[in-house]
Amino acid sequence: MRYPQHRPRRLRSSASLRQMVKETTLSLEDLVYPLFVVHGKGIKEPVPSLPGVYQYSLDCLQEEVKEGVSLGIKAVLLFGIPAYKDSKGSSAYDSEEVIQKAARIIKDSYPHLLVITDVCLCEYTDHGHCGLVKEGQILNDSTLELLVETALSHAREGVDMVAPSDMMDGRVKAIREGLDREGFEKVSIMSYAAKYSSAFYGPFREAAGSSPSFGDRKTYQMDPANSREALKEVKMDIEEGADIVMVKPALAYLDVINRVKAETLLPVAAYNVSGEYAMVKAAVEKGWLEEEGIVEEILTGIKRAGADLIITYFAMDVARMLNRRSG
Ligand code: PBG
Repeated sequence: MRYPQHRPRRLRSSASLRQMVKETTLSLEDLVYPLFVVHGKGIKEPVPSLPGVYQYSLDCLQEEVKEGVSLGIKAVLLFGIPAYKDSKGSSAYDSEEVIQKAARIIKDSYPHLLVITDVCLCEYTDHGHCGLVKEGQILNDSTLELLVETALSHAREGVDMVAPSDMMDGRVKAIREGLDREGFEKVSIMSYAAKYSSAFYGPFREAAGSSPSFGDRKTYQMDPANSREALKEVKMDIEEGADIVMVKPALAYLDVINRVKAETLLPVAAYNVSGEYAMVKAAVEKGWLEEEGIVEEILTGIKRAGADLIITYFAMDVARMLNRRSG
């Protein structure tokens, strides 16, 4: 059969129709803006491997959040850099710590801004692991109690959602039960359900000061070679009570995002992680890539793969771009 030559292969139409039938459009509602909070005053400390990302003291954080809100940012994800670290990660659930204070200040000033907090011990332990350690082994079950304490300390400051990123088994259930027991039924859980043991987290560990002092995270994070395992983790987290499931990182795992989206009925989040951001920034700095086009293509790809939410350090830039376009 001859291919009918006259048949248009692409939509022959005006630019406005093309815009109307576009399958994937980035919007402000897709974006979650990650922020690092430190102690002190007047601090806006650049993270060398993440140009454009800073560690903010509470006063500077307020200014950044104010700008974000004015650009239409709908959600922030907070990471705290504590004043002290010990073997039990005590500062993770210390109500006087900086992430708890940040959550309170932001919620008080912007009740409609969705505040999500990272729940993990790695920024708070002196050994830098996400759980308690005994004789070089991660103690899964005793870590759970501390994660619950951490989530509760955030809930008490009014956060909308907690995001456990540690990958201990059973953490979603433990946190859900802990929250419900204290009357925080409305606080939701975004679980890092499929979190890979990835080389893309390097710059984040610089930003959050959370590199493990020995060993690696391979015993509790997933093997990049596996995608069926991701579905298993997602299923478990959903059974345990997760409200949103996350895949992390995003770019090397678009197939995983797609599979997770196809097999769950919950919203799916994707974390466009620090290494993915740093690669773009480095190439742009060298003049090898044009930033805006690259960022839009990457984030559109992540959304097209199935992400309902994208956690990205590009959030403010994208918000600016969308604002400019909508005139
Ligand atoms: C753990 C955590 C990590 C990231 C978010 N939460 C680091 C890790 O697992 O080592 C990485 C995010 C990024 O690279 O942007 N609390």
